[in-house]
Amino acid sequence: MRPKVLVTRKLLPDALAYLEEYALVEGGRETGGLTRKELKQKIRDKDGLFCLLVDRIDREVISAGQRLTIIANCAVGFDNIDVQYARERGILVTNTPGVLTEATADLTWALILAVARKIPQADRFAKENRFTGWELDLFLGREVTGRRLGIIGLGRIGKAVAERAQAFKMEVVYHDPHRLADEEERDRGMTYLPLDELLSSADIVTIHASLNPQTHHLLSAAKLKLMKKTAILVNVARGPIVDEAALAKALAKGDLWGAGLDVYEREPDIEERLFRLDNVVLLPHIGSATYETRSRMAMAAARNLVQGLRGERPDNLIT
Ligand code: GLV
Repeated sequence: MRPKVLVTRKLLPDALAYLEEYALVEGGRETGGLTRKELKQKIRDKDGLFCLLVDRIDREVISAGQRLTIIANCAVGFDNIDVQYARERGILVTNTPGVLTEATADLTWALILAVARKIPQADRFAKENRFTGWELDLFLGREVTGRRLGIIGLGRIGKAVAERAQAFKMEVVYHDPHRLADEEERDRGMTYLPLDELLSSADIVTIHASLNPQTHHLLSAAKLKLMKKTAILVNVARGPIVDEAALAKALAKGDLWGAGLDVYEREPDIEERLFRLDNVVLLPHIGSATYETRSRMAMAAARNLVQGLRGERPDNLIT
């Protein structure tokens, strides 16, 4: 008998067709997600689950999956899944690392430049036909070239962001629980700094850590206070790493020059005070959103799922 798979949200056609070759698939065609009640009910007779980062796959949902053998998350982050509980139940969990590194690093740079050079504000100004002539002080931003970039979380994406910084002749410092070997630091032209030192000295701070109990509110009100008044903070990782209310306060008071956010503490809700600030650029969690990358993510997750259902070790098993 073919295994049964639940797909929580609309899936790209190629990945859906691939899954359907091997399994009986429920879902994957409708825009919008399932309620928790629907999720718990539909998962009951499924062997595999294909989910997105917006689906909270906690103990309650996992226990409802009586026959579940694999959960394939279509994202590199997996803080939406109780991996430890899944493991206790002998259920495999997979993610999609690697395929979204470059797109997310590109988006990071788009945000850095958008904040530093006030791109969205200037675009609005021009479209409102308010450009009446060149002025020496029109939309003055912050120089990026040659400044100090602080990277928090040096995984694949953090490293790809650092590589792009070379083109901007930046001095790159990083903070991560795993320090690089001296030789790799030298090769990459990067210097390790303790978090407080990184925060107090960087001109641009960008976050690429994963969300876990150690990184929740890593950028608390107290840590944000360490940053230079002229600094820019960018977060494309996970919202709860930054205390969003404290960030809004710091931006409103001018304690921080600007911020670029792609992720939020309570997605899709955004701290209301941020809407009224001109020194923050907000994006709707689109770090990996290119046709090519999203297609690669969907296919990687679908392949992981099928491998798990076949009893093989999935390519991207979370261990
Ligand atoms: C996106 O945020 C992801 O984790 O893939």
